[in-house]
Amino acid sequence: MKLDKTKKDWWQSAVFYQIYPKSFQDTDGDGIGDLPGIISRLDYLNKLGIDGIWLSPVCQSPQVDNGYDISDYQAIYPVFGTMEDMERLIHEAKKRNISIILDLVLNHCSDQHPWFLEALKSRDNPYHDYFVWRDGDGVTPPNDMMACFGGSMWTYVPHLGQYYFHHFAAQQPDLNWENPKLRRELYDMIRFWVGKGVGGFRLDVIDQIAKVPEEKITANGPRLHEFLQELSKEAFCEEGLVTVGEAWGANVERAKLFSSRDCKELSMVFQFQHIGLDQQPGGEKWDLAPLYLPDLKKCLESWQTGLEHEGWNSLFMNNHDLPRVVSRWGNDGAFRVESAKMLATMLHGLQSTPYIYQGEEIGMTNIRLPLEDYVDLEIHNLYRDRVAAGYNPASVMESIYARGRDNGRTPMQWTAGENAGFTTGKAWLPVNENHTSINVEAALEDPDSIFYYYQKLIALRKQHAVFREGCFTLLLPEDEQRFVYRRDTENEHMLVICNFKEEPAPLDDIEIPATEPALSNYSELSDYLRPYEARMYIF
Ligand code: GLC
Repeated sequence: MKLDKTKKDWWQSAVFYQIYPKSFQDTDGDGIGDLPGIISRLDYLNKLGIDGIWLSPVCQSPQVDNGYDISDYQAIYPVFGTMEDMERLIHEAKKRNISIILDLVLNHCSDQHPWFLEALKSRDNPYHDYFVWRDGDGVTPPNDMMACFGGSMWTYVPHLGQYYFHHFAAQQPDLNWENPKLRRELYDMIRFWVGKGVGGFRLDVIDQIAKVPEEKITANGPRLHEFLQELSKEAFCEEGLVTVGEAWGANVERAKLFSSRDCKELSMVFQFQHIGLDQQPGGEKWDLAPLYLPDLKKCLESWQTGLEHEGWNSLFMNNHDLPRVVSRWGNDGAFRVESAKMLATMLHGLQSTPYIYQGEEIGMTNIRLPLEDYVDLEIHNLYRDRVAAGYNPASVMESIYARGRDNGRTPMQWTAGENAGFTTGKAWLPVNENHTSINVEAALEDPDSIFYYYQKLIALRKQHAVFREGCFTLLLPEDEQRFVYRRDTENEHMLVICNFKEEPAPLDDIEIPATEPALSNYSELSDYLRPYEARMYIF
């Protein structure tokens, strides 16, 4: 079933699919995915039933951060293809009622962007103020803020006698949103893409655009909502455009501001509170801790009830920055299929818009590589900084195996054959050896595959209003093994029961409706829950 996208808020019933172009499908043998590769797989995505594709950045870029360092917002990175390829992708996707959601990186650009090259020329260059500068001596940076990928947030330019600010790598200078001319250029660029027919935008680290370095404010700065309202008014004026803002610093109250109906800024947010639950308190993502299930349930409950009638959220457990969830919260060994389906059931039964990350629908897993085979700059900087700080190298590697971003970036596994059918050349990042059994071809041949389970989940969401409208009630909140919840509208009800562990679990304390489940990951039901069992009843 296809959505009517002329309807306002169509995206509340939609399911999106994220493509990391570099790793999706190569067609010219250079070992790097490309736009023609994506076009060649549109029928596959259509079969899955998705309504839109969030495309990680495809613009011109030196690729220091795999395209999140853009040097020309209106040109395609040639290794991915041409502008004609992009137009063809938008057109071919539209024919299948699939919208293309472009990744907009508005917080920073590349140090090779002409704006920055101009800005470097002199303090009175017209582009100088497009960036964030502070005077200094090259010895002591303006403050001790540390960049996301390691090192100081300040890089010195001797001939200017100034430091520039970069939240991420030094090659990703932050843009100065205080400057109205810069903002206007960004809006014009966005209109260019709207004109090309994209269906919306994912806004990279959008809660960081209103920074105040003096007060060490990067996220949620004082002018953030003013900037977002202007952006929305000037650039996202069409009805039907969908916008999703990446906001690591979002809590429920902030998310209401981003996505509420009265002060419309964005359609929805990507918030990350559930993603940070399995790390040590006060630590970073590398400081591993087991997931305590009641924490996950309470976190998701707070979002479900907090945004009800007041905003809109997105649902995800994977993306190009995160490890594979089946390895993280499921079981990527004996119960890979069961646990992948269970996690999907838990997530897709909730209110908000689900995002599937490439390979999730076939249960792709994490990878372990020797350090030198990783490509992500974050991994290499982490290893360097932590080993220098005295961490045991083996424990740093354990953190990388569990949390490194390259886990989610290994090439898409299409076949059991050479390079998993991703490329005829040498893949830019190693292909997971388990592609011999975990691959799309095998999934499509097996009626019980994870793929067909996702297909059913997507179809159910379109058929039943309870997915979109049902109120959420968490049952058994303190239970450490089972995630059980209800969704209710006046006429329709849903009960979701998930066993998060390998051990069996009882069912006799749950009121089960007298009907067959709409979906379950075991073909025959029993009177207790088997390893990673999931059931979704709709009644
Ligand atoms: C976002 C992206 C990530 C990137 C960072 C800097 O968090 O998802 O991949 O490295 O922004 O642009």
